[in-house]
Amino acid sequence: MVNYKDLGLVNTREMFRAAVSGGYAIPAYNFNNMEQLQAIVIACAQTRSPVIVQVSKGAREYANETLLRYLALGAVKMSEDMGERIPIALHLDHGDSYELCVSCIENGFSSVMIDGSHLPYEKNVELTTRVVEYAHRYDVTVEGELGVLAGIEDEVSSEVTHYTKPEEVEDFVKKTGVDSLAISIGTSHGAYKFKPGAGVPELRFDILEEVERRIPGFPIVLHGASSVVQEYVETINRYGGKIEDALGVPEEQLRRAAASAVCKINIDSDGRLAMTARIREALAKDPSNFDPRKYLAPARTELIKMIKQKNTSVLGSSGKA
Ligand code: G3H
Ligand code: 13P
Ligand code: ZN
Repeated sequence: MVNYKDLGLVNTREMFRAAVSGGYAIPAYNFNNMEQLQAIVIACAQTRSPVIVQVSKGAREYANETLLRYLALGAVKMSEDMGERIPIALHLDHGDSYELCVSCIENGFSSVMIDGSHLPYEKNVELTTRVVEYAHRYDVTVEGELGVLAGIEDEVSSEVTHYTKPEEVEDFVKKTGVDSLAISIGTSHGAYKFKPGAGVPELRFDILEEVERRIPGFPIVLHGASSVVQEYVETINRYGGKIEDALGVPEEQLRRAAASAVCKINIDSDGRLAMTARIREALAKDPSNFDPRKYLAPARTELIKMIKQKNTSVLGSSGKA
């Protein structure tokens, strides 16, 4: 058993309490490799932002779970070396079984998501409750989900959005004992969240407000919150890529969400786009470049810039470490 406290990590409880009362959101950035984690740590240390670094089931399989744990330990030490000891939580994103959550808790994660959102309500309650009972023994925090986002989450996919039913949230939170709740208000995973030409995308703030009214001050999580930065999409397409009609959540709506009970905002796709844009550009401009450092360094630099911008002017987490 490796306890996250021995790695210098923190759970999300105090982060969320401060974010809900302070009207900002903690950034949750996905990572799969060293360069992404370096960028997250550098950007968050330089903006003095608390951060959740999150690992999907796919990322865990891709990178090797043991290596990931040591990377997270490295992230804590790296921020210390930079003279900026920011709070870092290591979180399992979209855990799909009790066994996976247990394995992560036993291997140094400080927070897990059990995503039973695709299950019938009572089954979701049952599964989430089991995970909470185990996690809380080790002071690990748990995120549950009600409502299904359109798009793909690992192997689970849905064609359409199933909005969270506000009338279920109170009962779910009470019965399961979860520490935070992801809700579905019109965001989706990936780069194709909205159709072009259909006007400015609108999240269902009415649902969010009704959820807040029923469970005041309870930490709410927003998945699928990339803005799908158009400059990156254009750069990718200019240098040989093919990403058509990609649209994300307008920053203004994320700012509004962050000022509310939404205290965790998940961003993965924007980081993928940022890195891919700079890698494509570097390789296209210098076809003789075959040194990964020489195309990954500009990708990492871009990711640092992007994260600093999000922390500072969208989520409001800068300076809150
Ligand atoms: O919610 C999904 C995240 O963006 C992780 O994606 O399962 O491809 O690692 P992934
Ligand atoms: P994006 O695909 O919008 O970045 O969402 C990521 C996410 O929700 C990870 O859980
Ligand atoms: Zn997600």
